[in-house]
Amino acid sequence: MVYQQLVRRALFSLGGGDPEIAHERTMAALTRLGRVRPAVSLLRRYFGTTDEHTVFGVRFPGVVGLAAGMDKDGSALRAWPALGFGFVEVGTVTRHAQPGNPAPRLFRLRDSEAIVNRMGFNNAGADALAARLRALGPIGVPLGISIGKSKATPVEVAVEDYRHSLRALHPYGDYFAVNVSSPNTPGLRGLQDRGALDTLVGELRRESDALGRRPLLVKIAPDLTDHAIAEVLQVCADHDVDGLIATNTTLARDGLAAADVPTGAEAGGLSGRPLAERAREVVAFVGRQTSGALPVIGVGGIFDAEGALRMLDAGASLVQLYTGFVFGGPPLVRRINRAVAGR
Ligand code: FNR
Repeated sequence: MVYQQLVRRALFSLGGGDPEIAHERTMAALTRLGRVRPAVSLLRRYFGTTDEHTVFGVRFPGVVGLAAGMDKDGSALRAWPALGFGFVEVGTVTRHAQPGNPAPRLFRLRDSEAIVNRMGFNNAGADALAARLRALGPIGVPLGISIGKSKATPVEVAVEDYRHSLRALHPYGDYFAVNVSSPNTPGLRGLQDRGALDTLVGELRRESDALGRRPLLVKIAPDLTDHAIAEVLQVCADHDVDGLIATNTTLARDGLAAADVPTGAEAGGLSGRPLAERAREVVAFVGRQTSGALPVIGVGGIFDAEGALRMLDAGASLVQLYTGFVFGGPPLVRRINRAVAGR
């Protein structure tokens, strides 16, 4: 409550209320914070977790991770574990550095506790991230790296783009997320189709095995039909994929508060509270289809400890936050960690 009334109000008003400026300033502050060792240890003592969960062979000190997209270029990596995150997923990065879509491209839907974004993978490129991670060293919690396709690369040769990023970043990732589900890169979601996904995942599996095996996960959209998800799962089984991340943002606009309907009409993917039920449904469907054999990271609309526990009960082994963290901040991470540990 104190967080929402004081800190959130201040953060949301940064940059005259422009959500992207507020995001950039918050990230810059977290980057600076991460460099102050005593502050990091103090925060870690308060927010940090010591739970232990082994999933796809990786040991996680807590089940709550930072979802992809928040720290695309890995600039605030020292700060996240201090705020209670048990793992961090950086990216999505692409082979080529790219500016993303023109602004405005990020919209807050306050009454609905949601966000619409069409950022379009703005990032400094896979090689720049590799250089940063090399200089930084381990961050104390597992690091996931999300890879995607550059906008300039035709979808028919997307495999080469992903392969380049995997190669460049291979030494630094505890797992790799193959992002085929962002709605903001034309053609990207088509890579979820059975044939295209089979080629992509097959090549990445081979590459990862040749370099020294790392867990490979596929991140899917909530807008897939059950049939399409079943096909994705078949491809995952065929290529020994280690896990699934469900879900990315949605093209649907259900469940918006009346005041947010005009902003909700902006093009892009919707995240936050209106996504919660569908994300949970997808996680539960995957659990049923695979008899729980494929680990799932559940993400979408988690805003409180109960939401996180429900996602875990639906079959997720780990959860991630993006929009809930924007609205609820570090106290939310702490509440979830405590609820999970107290079970
Ligand atoms: C995202 N998300 C995202 N996902 C991804 O795999 N790669 C990315 O680059 C991004 N970028 C991104 C930017 C912004 C502004 C938002 C709001 C979201 C999706 C994110 O990781 C997550 O899957 C969804 O947002 C659903 O979770 P929440 O936000 O409802 O907790």
